[in-house]
Amino acid sequence: MSERRRILVTSALPYANGPIHLGHLVEYIQTDIWVRFQKSRGHEVHYVCADDAHGTAIMLKAEQNGVTPEAQIATVKADHESDFADFHIRFDNYHSTHSDENRELSSYIYRKNRDAGHIATRPIRQLFDPEKQMFLADRFIKGECPKCSAKDQYGDSCEVCGATYAPTELKNPYSTISGAAPVMKESEHYFFKLPDFAGFLQDRDRSGRLQPEVANKLDEWFQAGLNDWDISRDAPYFGFEIPDAPGKYFYVWLDAPIGYMASFRNLCIKKPGLNFDDFWAPHAGTELYHFIGKDIVYFHALFWPAMLEGAGFRKPSAIFAHGFLTVNGQKMSKSRGTFIKARTYLDNLNPEYLRYYFAAKLSGSVEDIDLNLEDFQFRVNSDLVGKVVNIASRCAGFIGKKFENRLSVQCAEPQLLDDFIHAGASIAQHYENRDYGRAVREIMTLADRANQYIDEKKPWALAKEAGREAEVHDVCSVGLNLFRQLIIYLAPVLPAMAEASRQFLNVGSLDWQSREQLLLGHSINAFTPLMTRVEKEKVDAMVEASREHLAATTTAAPAAPAIEALAPEISIDDFVKIDLRVARIVNAQHVDGADKLLQLTLDIGEARPRNVFAGIKSAYPDPTALTGRLTVMVANLAPRKMKFGMSEGMVLAAGPGGKDIHILSPDSGATPGMRIK
Ligand code: 2FM
Ligand code: ZN
Repeated sequence: MSERRRILVTSALPYANGPIHLGHLVEYIQTDIWVRFQKSRGHEVHYVCADDAHGTAIMLKAEQNGVTPEAQIATVKADHESDFADFHIRFDNYHSTHSDENRELSSYIYRKNRDAGHIATRPIRQLFDPEKQMFLADRFIKGECPKCSAKDQYGDSCEVCGATYAPTELKNPYSTISGAAPVMKESEHYFFKLPDFAGFLQDRDRSGRLQPEVANKLDEWFQAGLNDWDISRDAPYFGFEIPDAPGKYFYVWLDAPIGYMASFRNLCIKKPGLNFDDFWAPHAGTELYHFIGKDIVYFHALFWPAMLEGAGFRKPSAIFAHGFLTVNGQKMSKSRGTFIKARTYLDNLNPEYLRYYFAAKLSGSVEDIDLNLEDFQFRVNSDLVGKVVNIASRCAGFIGKKFENRLSVQCAEPQLLDDFIHAGASIAQHYENRDYGRAVREIMTLADRANQYIDEKKPWALAKEAGREAEVHDVCSVGLNLFRQLIIYLAPVLPAMAEASRQFLNVGSLDWQSREQLLLGHSINAFTPLMTRVEKEKVDAMVEASREHLAATTTAAPAAPAIEALAPEISIDDFVKIDLRVARIVNAQHVDGADKLLQLTLDIGEARPRNVFAGIKSAYPDPTALTGRLTVMVANLAPRKMKFGMSEGMVLAAGPGGKDIHILSPDSGATPGMRIK
């Protein structure tokens, strides 16, 4: 075997304020497969993770639940750990960012950077909630749009007219936490001087180790210029106090990646002989990889290596970014029942189905992957049950009944076995490159060959012919040896099925290297079914349970729908100025890059249809549902230039927002262009 590598691997730390869902699992499954593969190859690998336990969201969640933040994060951590364990995600250590190790390391890294001149302080002015006595991040401020006066708009952009602005421009702003009107307040903040590291980061970028999409993104950021990073938050905040700044806390994203180190340090305490410096000293000859989602590249490719550099630690060997998960081609959705929690999945389906499906879909790129539930069922059934397990079940019966569970002493097909063994080199390369989809395709091609071999030899027919016992024995023994090769290759993806197969085959190990010894004259154990088919009813039940869950939480939510206050009185003259028309929605579609808007093409009987951008996507995730419908539009609104094009009117809709928006429709008989009076 080649040299024994020493590798430290991490997955991103999940926030301690909510459950693990299938979107998260793409990454943990991706990482776990890679780690299991490297371990199977005989390398020393440490896979560490932790809960990301700090920040305002977690503090508020605890408050909402009437518990301390410590109690909140303890409960969530236990849930996360059991979800991961049940998906066979095998961490070597699972810690928390709210730990002594992390407090010490965060302080140390901060002090080193401060002493080297990489920390600056300056006052900033920010909105403050006088009732809660806390500064408000933009997402906690709402108010009326400064352009169109729509109510309840967030501090960055208006869902109704598409305008973008600063939270300070909102009219009648209010804190979404207390409802109080925020006031402007100044406070001293601490900044990490990222521009100090521009040269260092650019050199790293040019090293060629980054995924091409990530390197391109970094180039864009370099061109735009790097800025100081605000690493402090004022009390009240759940986190670590900054050593020399009472009342100031490290921003959650400062100590989150340090949580990787902290979890590893905690592992060193538990594992005698494991040395922290071997993996974190500046010139450590070991490897360090971070698996992350594409949305957090900035933190991992810029802030993190810069902080490490500033504090005199080693930098990651590489970061591996992956894309997002869609379900049935769309963003995961609570109303469609496709926002599926890990636990809901586990209540209905075998975790290895999902591990296999994700593996089959994953490549080393940052492309999004889709879980198509029909394809999922088809693929798992046809590949794993129909091809792989089938090989074992077709052969095991004869070996059991006729040969006392003992395999033939000779290999009747040395060339075929040799081909399977040699295929291991290219399969290994695909695993190494995280191109699991290709690995799986090659493994399934081998499975097809094994089945073809059995089909050709027809042991069931031979068994009926006198004097051909030895052939039956040879063919089924070859079949089971081929099956073993396949299981060795699939073991990183399917650890539970591999373990059951290991017991059935009565072998000590299914490590990569073990494939080179054939099982000759070897006793196996009785065959038990290794995997059952995915049942459509179970998939449906999982989707239903995900849907139901939302209904349960919405009805339980305390906030009663508020009756909006009436707008100021207007005269009849004001009213007649508004030209309301019946409009037919000729086309409705998503707008690239817009989270909230749909683009509507409206026919109001004019020569040319109107183009309108409406902030109703949250209520109509499938825009085709709107096509052909009649609605009502304000036809004489001055056209407005929006980021995505010109909007020529406005459709009328009712409801508080989010999923609860309903476009108005006239009674039957109305036709496009009719004026509403
Ligand atoms: O985006 C997130 O979910 C973060 N909790 C990930 C943190 S990863 C690391 F830096 F700690
Ligand atoms: Zn607006």
